[in-house]
Amino acid sequence: MGVSSRTWSVSELLSGLRDRAERSGRRLIDLGQGAPVDPTPELVTAELAAAADWPGYPPAQGIEEVRTAYCRWAARRWGTHLSATDVVTTVGSKEFIATLPWLMGLSRSDLVAIPELAYPTYAAGAHLAGCRVVATPPDIGALDAIRPRLLWLNTPGNPTGESLTAVQLTEIVAWARERGITVVSDECYIELTPPGPPATSILSPEVNGGRFDNLVAVHSLSKRSNMAGYRIGFASGDPKFLAQLQQSRRDAGLIAAGPIQRAAVKALADDDHVFRLQQQYAERRAVLRTGLTAVGWQVQHSEAGLFIWATAGESDAKTSARLADLGILVAPGGFYGSTGDQHVRLSLTASLTDLVEVGARLLAAEQ
Ligand SMILES: Cc1ncc(COP(=O)(O)O)c(C=O)c1O
Repeated sequence: MGVSSRTWSVSELLSGLRDRAERSGRRLIDLGQGAPVDPTPELVTAELAAAADWPGYPPAQGIEEVRTAYCRWAARRWGTHLSATDVVTTVGSKEFIATLPWLMGLSRSDLVAIPELAYPTYAAGAHLAGCRVVATPPDIGALDAIRPRLLWLNTPGNPTGESLTAVQLTEIVAWARERGITVVSDECYIELTPPGPPATSILSPEVNGGRFDNLVAVHSLSKRSNMAGYRIGFASGDPKFLAQLQQSRRDAGLIAAGPIQRAAVKALADDDHVFRLQQQYAERRAVLRTGLTAVGWQVQHSEAGLFIWATAGESDAKTSARLADLGILVAPGGFYGSTGDQHVRLSLTASLTDLVEVGARLLAAEQ
């Protein structure tokens, strides 16, 4: 059978380290994966229960209320004027990312550009469609010679937590428009910033001049609202591009469940739970950063998102094995791109107590 057996999954990658950590005799502290561990807000779970009776199919693009709630959220955050017709509801953002090159009709002769250190699904989706993948160089102009059809951005990024600035995003959008390239900005972590002003989105008018041609934003409620198990996200932007794409998505049955869409309306309309989560992640980030720097590690970027990206000045294999022997599971950085092979990624999806304990175990091991 011609089924690809390549793994793009961090959980499979981590299975050896997990076994090693479990053999260490220490209580396992799992910072390997980015799955939220805090409860889904009650206003969301209550709405899900209330919407459970749904015998028919939901509208493929998403119920109007959820697309309108999304537009209102984007307007609150960035002053964006989106119309509900320019929004597509997705089954979490991963399915959108994995199927996009295929549904765009890209094939063997097409190139997909992805960040140098990247969430593996950008490459997985390109490979499923048979496309070639290229890492985007720091100077985007260097892509001129090879002209990718699709350019992925990820801000704030996984694994590094780096956010693209308004200036960087504006330059990239202008570059892509001049060349007719579609730029898709995966912003699934955009709400996980320190408390204060929001991170800049590709939807920000200062970036796109109030027009959405050639650009798409990808958002998700998985991390913003602790709804990873609900599987719901959104794509918005270029009306022509999304209208065409939506026809194929409907044909392929890529439709978020109706009760989940109703629950998402409540999540999108509420900011309080997001602001509380921002506070919580800021505290976790500060504690873990302190623990790592106390033993001489260097933390890079990591201002936003769900992770700390750090180096102990040795190979990712050595650091992740050393941590596994202390009962701590982390992701080796090389999994996200070859330039990450001296780093590890530590997820902030653990209690404050466990993150303090990580620092304590590292310090004790030094002595
Ligand atoms: C950068 C990035 N994009 C997208 C996703 C997919 O998230 P979801 O499908 O839960 O929206 C993840 C998940 O970890 C991610 O790290």
